[in-house]
Amino acid sequence: MSGAKNAALPILCAALLADGEHRFRNVPALRDVATMGALLETMGLSVAQDGSVLDITSRPVNEPVAPYELVKKMRASVLVLGPLVARYGEATVSLPGGCAIGARPIDQHLKGLEAMGAKVDLDHGYVHVKVPRGRLTGAEVVLDMPTVTGTENLMSAAVLAEGRTTLVNAAREPEIEELARVLNKMGANVTGAGTDVIVIEGREGLEPVDHAIMADRIEAGTYMVAAAATKGNVFLDGVTFDHLEAVAAKMRQAGCAVEREGEGVRVAAEGDLRAVNIKTAPHPGFPTDMQAQLMVLMAMAKGQSVIEETIFENRFMHVPELNRMGADISVHGRTATVKGVDSLQGAQVMATDLRASASLVIAGLLAQGETEVLRVYHIDRGYEHIEEKLAGLGAHIERVPGASA
Ligand code: EPZ
Repeated sequence: MSGAKNAALPILCAALLADGEHRFRNVPALRDVATMGALLETMGLSVAQDGSVLDITSRPVNEPVAPYELVKKMRASVLVLGPLVARYGEATVSLPGGCAIGARPIDQHLKGLEAMGAKVDLDHGYVHVKVPRGRLTGAEVVLDMPTVTGTENLMSAAVLAEGRTTLVNAAREPEIEELARVLNKMGANVTGAGTDVIVIEGREGLEPVDHAIMADRIEAGTYMVAAAATKGNVFLDGVTFDHLEAVAAKMRQAGCAVEREGEGVRVAAEGDLRAVNIKTAPHPGFPTDMQAQLMVLMAMAKGQSVIEETIFENRFMHVPELNRMGADISVHGRTATVKGVDSLQGAQVMATDLRASASLVIAGLLAQGETEVLRVYHIDRGYEHIEEKLAGLGAHIERVPGASA
């Protein structure tokens, strides 16, 4: 497995908190990581990735601004907000705007910063955050929902605030624990990451860090489903089983064998799979980032499965594409009903969001005939060397140079 994209993104932003030489290892070579590096470079940091090692030379930024041109490419750019306000007492960040899967507001990020003494103004699509007294003050922040990047932004802001910050109803994803590990290695004092209450004792300053990033659990889950969907037997090396409990439980319920093995997980499936119902939820519940992948597994399972997407309002764009391949899926609001079919047919399909695109690749692996997935740049945002990894398992998959974007 490659390093976790959704851990790497907030961790790269943490380099803004301390000047000097940072070294991050096991960093995936992904479009989103390159976009974040470009954003940090526009602020004056030096970023260089060589294979899976990414070095950042951090220095005071020329201006704490994240421009629309870069934020519109990747909403996770909003993760510079917390570190910039913590370090400089101000920041101007383009509002991320919606994306294919939903509106994705950042009101909780801003509510938390206001509780810590910042003033927030929205103006012409930009959010201007300024701290009148110059330095944030620790506060108790109760989040309306366990937002992942909201928790990460506020944790990164609190590490340089004066006094104690308590985040209540915090997100519990493993990537948040990983960010806390990095911040503490930099000299911060973060406790409770991974639970729904995180306590941060503010510090005067932090030091640069050398850190190897955890494996990507969603990449791993994606390949686990690909193995099961094709009735294969695959060992996934370097993934933490505990980060995939909910996914493993659902796959076992459907009739797959999913076992810890050494430093990874082994997945095997033979015979027909059973239809299971799925409801996405914040960690440790079933991850929304695995919903499209499990839907493909259910498309050919025996029986009917009901899949409820509770996190995002529009995360079923893979459904029309799967139905064009012969699946029998109907959507009513945030619920999809999947009736298992005997086979899928290859077709030309369109990728839309990152995880939906990966589910179309899996569908192509088990369909009769050839499938052509268009707009694969969506896939390259979150899956490193996907065709090499799948071809290594026996898949017939190739990237068509210059195919229509
Ligand atoms: C993170 O997005 C991930 N991205 C997403 O992964 C993931 O799907 C999502 O968490 C849920 O697990 C990164 O970590 C970079 P949220 P994030 O804030 O933080 C609402 C992928 O495929 N909300 O936890 O943006 C929001 O609208 C990506 O790698 C507010 O209302 O998700 C959503 O309905 C896709 N106000 C829900 O909370 C806020 O201020 C969860 O969003 C913040 C969020």
